[in-house]
Amino acid sequence: MKVLNRSALFFMKELDTAEKRLQPFSVFNQLRETTPIRYDHERQCWDLFLYEDVHEILKTHAVFSSERKRTLEANTILTMDPPRHTKMRNIVNKAFTVKSVQNLAPRIQEIVHQLIDLIIQQGQMEVVRDLSAPLPVIMIAELLGVPKEDRLLFKEWSDVAIKGVDQYTEEHLAAVAAEHKKAQIELSQYFTDMMNQRRTEPKDDLITALLRAEVDGEKLTDKEIIDFCILLLIAGNETTTNLITHGIRLLTEQPDIQEQVAQDSALIPSFIEETLRYYPPVLGVSRVAKQEIEIYGQKIHQGEVVMAWVAAANRDPRVFSDPDTFVVNRTPNHHLTFGKGIHFCLGAPLARLEAKIAFEEIFKRLTEIRLQKGTKVEINPSPLLYGLKEYPVTFQT
Ligand code: HEM
Repeated sequence: MKVLNRSALFFMKELDTAEKRLQPFSVFNQLRETTPIRYDHERQCWDLFLYEDVHEILKTHAVFSSERKRTLEANTILTMDPPRHTKMRNIVNKAFTVKSVQNLAPRIQEIVHQLIDLIIQQGQMEVVRDLSAPLPVIMIAELLGVPKEDRLLFKEWSDVAIKGVDQYTEEHLAAVAAEHKKAQIELSQYFTDMMNQRRTEPKDDLITALLRAEVDGEKLTDKEIIDFCILLLIAGNETTTNLITHGIRLLTEQPDIQEQVAQDSALIPSFIEETLRYYPPVLGVSRVAKQEIEIYGQKIHQGEVVMAWVAAANRDPRVFSDPDTFVVNRTPNHHLTFGKGIHFCLGAPLARLEAKIAFEEIFKRLTEIRLQKGTKVEINPSPLLYGLKEYPVTFQT
């Protein structure tokens, strides 16, 4: 039997009501405590839920490989093993270190300020539309060197790239695949044109840096540069959107925490870390076993797919005390939301900085943030990403 989409099927089977999709954590908690490891015959893969195991799978890249096909079929660092992964990651790393990302702070500040100006003018905010979606898209577009007038186009491609599967039917999956293909062709063309322009007229942007970059005398091919740009769209946009939206969601769900952070802005970084743990934008990651390995007496065979469920690990009581409580200054907080090991999220410093600046500005300028009365909160039907469709709030200034 061909498995059409493993993670979509998990979503349909385990999270079969709107309530469970909005708050999937009791399902994950139950799976972790009753079946920490299991083989799902229908999905043809292993599921692991304990912190210790998820951590081990992510760290042990020699056994658990990342080489597999992904959305848009791009061949990127996310789906590479060493030695290729090490080389490629070294090339792109420089642009994303904490230090180089820190240089972006004034620009992030400016964008957030403008977005909040507009929000105050409107007198209300739909968090996703007005703040959490535009901020990461603008930042990635600017990093790459995409001109302002193309940003909307860029956002549309980015939305298609991460478009989830909300119905488990062959027709629906085929329709989404066709959309992905079309977006990939358009994006490739767009970045090819951009690369050609930068070859004759270099600029101070990531595309120019990628064209120049070399490791061991080896340059990136055009296809590798295009695939990396596409990866930034897929990996960086909706995840950061979800982080900021979940942060505001939390502030409205727990007004006492809103009050506490409003009184002490030094709590913002730990508030963001706890949001990442509590409402992780990525629920789980997959790997393929490179060799046979035994876990709790169960044999995982070479070539079998393994799902490491971050959402369950992040609430494992063996690691986090009182894991279902949001503890604003939780220390330590070794959540696995950005992964672990060699594939640890390249964009983590950027995502953290965007969220920090956004929440600093929110707490400076808005108070009494509340979910708009009568709102039915819904999640995006994406099997591995966990985010809200929209989140309308009221506030005082
Ligand atoms: C990798 C989560 C934001 C770029 C990862 C991984 C996770 C993750 C879990 C590891 C996947 C694996 O091990 O298979 C997140 C979350 C984010 C976020 C939760 C926001 C809150 C970003 C941003 C960017 C980015 C803003 C770029 C602008 C990447 C890249 C990789 C990656 C390039 C691949 C790294 C590698 O394979 O070596 N991310 N991400 N991410 N992320 Fe992020």
